[in-house]
Amino acid sequence: MFIGLDLGTSSLKAILIDAHDRVLAEHSVPLSVQRPRDGWSEQSPESWCNAARDALTALAAKHDCSGLHGIGLAGHMHGATMVGADDRALRPCLLWNDTRAHAQAAELDADPRFRSGTGNIVFPGFTAPKVEWVRRTEPDVFARTKKILLPKDYLRLFLTGDCVSEMSDAAGTAWLDTGARDWSDDLLAACHLTRDHMPRLVDGSQISGTLRADLAAQVGLPRVPVAGGAGDNAAAAIGAGCVSDGAAFLSLGTSGVLFAATDAYRPDPDTAVHAFCHAVPDTWHQMGVILAATDALNWLSTLTGQSAAHLTTDLEPLRAPGKPLFLPYLGGERTPHNDAAIRGQFLGLEHATDARAAARAVMEGVAYAFADCRDALAATGTNVPRALAMGGGARSDYWLRILTTTLDIPLDLPAQGEFGAALGAARLGRMAATGEGAEIATPPVVDRTYDPNTHLTDAFAAGHARYRRAYQLLKDF
Ligand code: XUL
Repeated sequence: MFIGLDLGTSSLKAILIDAHDRVLAEHSVPLSVQRPRDGWSEQSPESWCNAARDALTALAAKHDCSGLHGIGLAGHMHGATMVGADDRALRPCLLWNDTRAHAQAAELDADPRFRSGTGNIVFPGFTAPKVEWVRRTEPDVFARTKKILLPKDYLRLFLTGDCVSEMSDAAGTAWLDTGARDWSDDLLAACHLTRDHMPRLVDGSQISGTLRADLAAQVGLPRVPVAGGAGDNAAAAIGAGCVSDGAAFLSLGTSGVLFAATDAYRPDPDTAVHAFCHAVPDTWHQMGVILAATDALNWLSTLTGQSAAHLTTDLEPLRAPGKPLFLPYLGGERTPHNDAAIRGQFLGLEHATDARAAARAVMEGVAYAFADCRDALAATGTNVPRALAMGGGARSDYWLRILTTTLDIPLDLPAQGEFGAALGAARLGRMAATGEGAEIATPPVVDRTYDPNTHLTDAFAAGHARYRRAYQLLKDF
């Protein structure tokens, strides 16, 4: 048996699987995000540890875990967790969708060593500019910082006592030489840091440490190895069997991701496509990332006081997009714009615009943002002929029909979509414990394939063109 822990933005999910990938038990603990100022997004690192302790205790209570062999970790990427000499976080973690460090990001990005060394733009949400913001704004915190850890690696420190990261998540810091799969001393020095501030690196499928004896006894689990694990997207790819060149998924989570595995390191920072290491040795991946996918729908749900589930049901039939037009840039955008200043827009509001019309527009707007990612990936030479649909938003049949028609590619909905990153983490736990490799990252059983509605592909392509034009008109407004 193996456990996968997925530290998500809105909840920590834990699953227990057997050697046939059957889910024997699961448990989720909600997490909250603090947004004290516009563009800021923070989370309490202690809340991750408490959630993990509760989730492991719950799994052990739900199922006999005496046959447990390994644990794997996945987590939201890019967070800056500043850790002091007592191994405790010195301040709340600055999350992946925190864009306060846009000025520091632009400065670092202007130094050509960052793009050439990491293969990526230094986006404001990446770790390095946020740490630079802390150095300048909270010098006392910076001075007391012993290690800088990514969120799931802080959780690992709690679980094992070891400061370790792995390649897929480390690639999102702006300090990793992504081709060489090692920290870059040069880029660290450019941020007033050294290798000593960084955790040791392993591959996601390697052992990183062992569950602490006192914690194991407290939660009721045997002392087993903990795998390196992966950033949530690479972990979802391991769960979805996206390891060989060209295999792709589209994730409708808080953020939106169009992910394609690559058999080589293929950076192309000018497209705002991310080029990161994969979780298994000698593999890489590319992805287009949008900052608000289900996050945009949740925002509308808060605004209207109607649940996202309510807003997205009974919207039939799929119809040509009209008014209003929605741009989902609630906290800026990464692919393809790298624009921290842009904000969301509703265009073409009229008397007839009700909450449901707004919901439809939000889903269309997110689909257009994905079409931008498809085009950015294509500009690097990566064409995505079909993709698995994952994440909480993939539970909406209507949204998937909008997406398949806008992207003009088939989308496969897995039978167990919601376990994506947690399943990938559990599989990495298994690889580390047993020595097995990427061959166990098999694709899921597909429950249903969504094919583009050919009567409407032209209308959605025209909607996408309007969307692109709207961004061009509004970006300097
Ligand atoms: C990827 C990214 C997000 C987070 C949160 O670059 O920022 O997908 O990992 O899920």
